[in-house]
Amino acid sequence: MVYKYDFLIIGAGVAGMSYALKVAREKKGTVCLICKTSLEEANTSFAQGGVASVTNLAVDNFDKHIEDTMVAGDYISDRQAVEQVVRCAPAQIRELVGWGVNFDKKGDGQFDLHREGGHSEFRILHHADDTGAEIQRGLMEAVRACPDITVKEHHFAVEIITQHHLGVRVTRRSPHIQCYGAYVLAPSEAGGGARVDTYLAKITVMCTGGCGAVYLTTSNPVIATGDGIAMVYRAKGTVQDMEFVQFHPTVLHNPKETHPAYLITEAMRGYGGILKLPNGQTFMEKYDERLSLAPRDIVARAIDKEMKIHGLDHVCLDVTHKDAAETRRHFPNIYQKCLSMGIDITTDYIPVRPAAHYLCGGIKVDLNGQSSIERLYALGECACTGLHGGNRLASNSLIEAVVYA
Ligand code: SIN
Repeated sequence: MVYKYDFLIIGAGVAGMSYALKVAREKKGTVCLICKTSLEEANTSFAQGGVASVTNLAVDNFDKHIEDTMVAGDYISDRQAVEQVVRCAPAQIRELVGWGVNFDKKGDGQFDLHREGGHSEFRILHHADDTGAEIQRGLMEAVRACPDITVKEHHFAVEIITQHHLGVRVTRRSPHIQCYGAYVLAPSEAGGGARVDTYLAKITVMCTGGCGAVYLTTSNPVIATGDGIAMVYRAKGTVQDMEFVQFHPTVLHNPKETHPAYLITEAMRGYGGILKLPNGQTFMEKYDERLSLAPRDIVARAIDKEMKIHGLDHVCLDVTHKDAAETRRHFPNIYQKCLSMGIDITTDYIPVRPAAHYLCGGIKVDLNGQSSIERLYALGECACTGLHGGNRLASNSLIEAVVYA
């Protein structure tokens, strides 16, 4: 079958859904949002920590957030992309709130801000320790309530359509490669086989996420297979910085749970959690003066090195010195998860280890999210905007997706 839309959005995490909502609101044309499983399953849901944005102007400002991002990215981030995301972030927080996303607030009505590795200030908006799930919930409800967005779950894009499919030879050097939509595998109907349909679109937007699932242990779900990036690469589009795969320093050590391994949010170190060896000895002082709150590439490498030196399969995160009720209030899901494994985090160390977490590279895009292929855009983790450089600053990804959307 052949379908025709003005906008074809492939992938339904924070990037895909916020773009769908914005373009539908502007009444620019028909919008189709396809996702390969269900809306609930996007990697966005697994983000715990939160969304970075300057909101407390009494102590924070854009220059500090820009500098923190450049330092974490090892100064190979694109400064224009950094400035765009940081300066547009507060308005996009208002968009998220307008779509029904809740962020925790203090008694005085101000946002309750967390701090994470590499941030010089408390600037992480969050919803307890399940911010991604809250964003996915809010956006899903808004998308489902929007009559102008056609949602197709369990539809798997397999190839984007270019001149190549009209019999023209396309190489990486061909000028003006154009995208006309995508071939999409439809779910098989009762008694019928699988079917590949043609989706023609004026604008196609890749929002397919990263590729963490190719690693042995990852905080990502199994759907994070990098297929959107692969589709664009096969169509002779430009991808860049694929070597910059970020490892999160702390997932819960559990050999039975690897895709996703359960994340122990960096906000826990911002809260005062201290990395230790199982015998209680600290080690971060050997690696960085910011200790457990150094940017995550430094912390992940330090943990990996200590595991190798001591022949360990994990190190530990200690929050036992913190007030138990506060810990349970800030991290209710982590508390329950660990308890289900017999670990009471208010009295016991949490066994943690690094895991593949985020792809800083991807489909190369400009400041408008446009790829090297005409009529093809990329947003979110599958895109390489230049914001993250060699190492993403914690909690900069969800906001990047909404800004570029
Ligand atoms: C975390 O909660 O530590 C993850 C947040 C992020 O990757 O930005």
